Amino acid sequence: MSDHAEIVEVGLRDGLQNESIPVDATTRARWFNALAEAGLNRIEAGSFVSPKWVPQMADTDQVIASIRRRSGLSIEALIPNQKGLDAALAANVDRIAVFTAASDAFTQKNINCTITASLERFAPLVEAANNAGIHVRGYISTVLDCPYAGRIAPGNVADVAERLLELGCNDISLGDTIGVARPREIDSVLDAVLPSIPVERLALHCHDTYGQALANILQGLNRGIRTFDSAVAGLGGCPYAPGASGNLATEDLLYLLEGQGLSTGVDLQAVCRIGNEICETLNRRTPSKVAQAMQC
Ligand code: HMG
Ligand code: MG
Repeated sequence: MSDHAEIVEVGLRDGLQNESIPVDATTRARWFNALAEAGLNRIEAGSFVSPKWVPQMADTDQVIASIRRRSGLSIEALIPNQKGLDAALAANVDRIAVFTAASDAFTQKNINCTITASLERFAPLVEAANNAGIHVRGYISTVLDCPYAGRIAPGNVADVAERLLELGCNDISLGDTIGVARPREIDSVLDAVLPSIPVERLALHCHDTYGQALANILQGLNRGIRTFDSAVAGLGGCPYAPGASGNLATEDLLYLLEGQGLSTGVDLQAVCRIGNEICETLNRRTPSKVAQAMQC
């Protein structure tokens, strides 16, 4: 099994989309560049969604225009529809992500349609991206629990994951959107998903609302997953998931992975320093235990 773990840094998207104070494109690009310099190779720059729905993600094209590209760096963005794909292609992103959920109620609140309608909408977008040589990630939110529909059957998650792969998605990120899952529950989701989805095409996306994210990551590691989403300074939340707190902090994830003997190529101290600057700008205290302990 691989001794390398890949981190998908989602703070500038999943984090900032939930901040009440908008952060300008110049600042977002500066943070992106600093995170890339710290060694993170997959970073979400933002999303091309309706600014009426998520105003914080406006100007993602300007963020991307100011990114210093380098070999090995993947600039990633979420898109919900053709308009988003057109904007992402114009911005010359390396990867796009489409996003749906294992709960119809959540999908309706998030992107104003059912799961089935979302997949129908994604089909031509994924095909066009594949034809353009752009990798596509498929996000599945609410894999354990939905803030509107409650507990989700693991079989629903497997069904959506299979349908996303059939559309042509390269990999799937399983999101515990409201951060309530515990390791045994993550295990039950993986029991349902792993028979039909190769483990190397899966990522775990854990929010840390109940402080269980690291334990869940460890469970994912034990089941063979090697790609994990996290957010610098534990930024995060979802505008359509009331009660969801931040993502697992990248600083905490790095500390765990290094301790488990996995290489990441990322400079933990540098990420801590960027997290500090972000927290100062947003006038908040970092939730990352590792950043607090290291006092970089
Ligand atoms: P709608 O209102 O049904 O769509 O929204 P519409 O086609 O009627 O468009 C409404 C307006 O938005 C129109 O403008 C469109 O032009 C514009 P108007 O004519 O009124 O002036 N518009 C756009 N503008 C820019 N870029 C676009 C775009 N599309 C439409 N791409 C829609 C449907 C999907 C657009 C809307 O619901 C939306 O943008 N939702 C975004 C929701 C979102 O970003 N959620 C957060 C990300 S998901 C997440 O955080 C979970 C995750 O982290 C994993 C986890 O934790 O579980 C990934
Ligand atoms: Mg999220």
